[in-house]
Amino acid sequence: MMDPQLEALLNRLLEAERAGHHLLHAMTQETADPQLRALFANFTEVEIGDAAVLEGLIRLHGGTPSPRVGDFAEKVLRLDNLRDQMHLLARGQAWVARTIEQALALDPPADIAACLREMANRHRHNMEWVRAKAITAFDE
Ligand SMILES: [Fe+2]
Repeated sequence: MMDPQLEALLNRLLEAERAGHHLLHAMTQETADPQLRALFANFTEVEIGDAAVLEGLIRLHGGTPSPRVGDFAEKVLRLDNLRDQMHLLARGQAWVARTIEQALALDPPADIAACLREMANRHRHNMEWVRAKAITAFDE
C-alpha cells in the first residue's frame, strides 16, 4: 500500500495537471499570437505527459488514481483577459512546484522522487517562461 499522505498529494497533482490540460487548450483558442500559441501548445503536451506519469506511479505503488479534474481551469478562465490568465497560470506552476516539494519531504520511493524532482524543476522553469512571455506580449 502507498503512504496515504503521499497518495493524497500525488492525486492533487494529478487533478491539477488534468485541469492544466483543459486550461491550456482553452487559452490556445484565445489568441492568434503565434508565440503564445506555441507556448500554450508546449505546455498542453507537458500537462498530458505529467498526468499520465502521475497516474502510472500511483498505480504502480498500489495507490488509486483520482478520476477528478481540479478546479484550476475554471478559476483562470473566469478572468476575462489573457494577460491576467497568464499571471495566474504562472502562480499555478509555482503551486505545483511547492506541492511537489511537500511530496518529496515525505521521502517517497526513488522512482517517484526522481520523477517529482524533474517535474518540480520543469514547473519552476515554466513559471518563469510564462511570466516572461506575458511581459513581452503585453508590454508591461
Ligand atoms: Fe503542470
